[in-house]
Amino acid sequence: MTPVGGFLELEPLTEQITDFAGKPLRSGRACLSAILNRESPKRVFVPSYLCDAAVRAVSAAGSNVEFYGLDSDLQPLLDPRDVDQDSMVLMVTYFGLSQTLPLSLIRSFRRPIVDNACAFYRSMPGDFWSFNSARKFVGVADGAYLTGPNSAEIDASSNVFGSEEHLRARQLGEPDAHQLYRRAERSFDNSVSAMSDRSRRRMSRADHVKICNRRRRNYESLQEMLGMANRLQIGLDADDVPHYYPFLSSIPIHQRLIQEGILVPSLWSEVITRSPRSPSWEQDLATRLLPLPIDQRYGHVHMERVAAVVREVLDDI
Ligand SMILES: Cc1ncc(COP(=O)(O)O)c(C=O)c1O
Repeated sequence: MTPVGGFLELEPLTEQITDFAGKPLRSGRACLSAILNRESPKRVFVPSYLCDAAVRAVSAAGSNVEFYGLDSDLQPLLDPRDVDQDSMVLMVTYFGLSQTLPLSLIRSFRRPIVDNACAFYRSMPGDFWSFNSARKFVGVADGAYLTGPNSAEIDASSNVFGSEEHLRARQLGEPDAHQLYRRAERSFDNSVSAMSDRSRRRMSRADHVKICNRRRRNYESLQEMLGMANRLQIGLDADDVPHYYPFLSSIPIHQRLIQEGILVPSLWSEVITRSPRSPSWEQDLATRLLPLPIDQRYGHVHMERVAAVVREVLDDI
């Protein structure tokens, strides 16, 4: 049976044109580097539940990394009074759910940076820094939008080609698609490059209404079918467009789901092995949280299959 999930295939084009606010850069990391180059903070507070790619971008910019924890709703456990004026705070909208990072909480910090890599469609006011990452939501090779004070003045010199080889290979079901995808992912670094012209064009012509509606509907289907068994209870707000459906299980079952054709990524295994040691809640998230696929390729039938496999695997234990 065809697997459900995994990286996206090339996004189909429509006649509609959509414009995006912000400076178009190559990746989330490029945006973060641009912000830190501009602001030069001595220290950046980052959540322990975060990928190494983002943590490394902070160190590479010459700022010290200070980890902080999250509460049971994935909101920062950080007192604004403990953040001095030489420091910035990186905060994540997890899974595209704005309840993990309400605007009032962002505004309680003096120098916030909002990481919407998992919340592409969340729009932010322009008086503080924020960025997203297009390829996590749309089938494009690269791209991210940076918003913030004078973001238009950011100088992004080089413009990388942005190979779509892996996206096409995925679409055609070619066996080397995953290898090509890994190679494409390895090509991202912390340099402040611009989004490729190809991805800009593809982003402006993608069917964003369909993408948003499908993602929301699939999320709601899984919430209906699996919500009672989910140990994480975070609501979907009216404007949210989710990345995955985060299902926190009592034990790790990633491998079992993958064997059954439900492709769930590990977010993020480095949280478990990192030094200094991550708090136990963050380790639990990295071990037991299943980011279930809900993207625009899928509809209700696929969600029924995802839910049935999760239930079967859990019943089996
Ligand atoms: C939460 C988060 N922030 C930032 C990034 C970096 O984004 P990009 O891969 O576009 O550089 C990622 C993904 O790697 C991420 O998951």
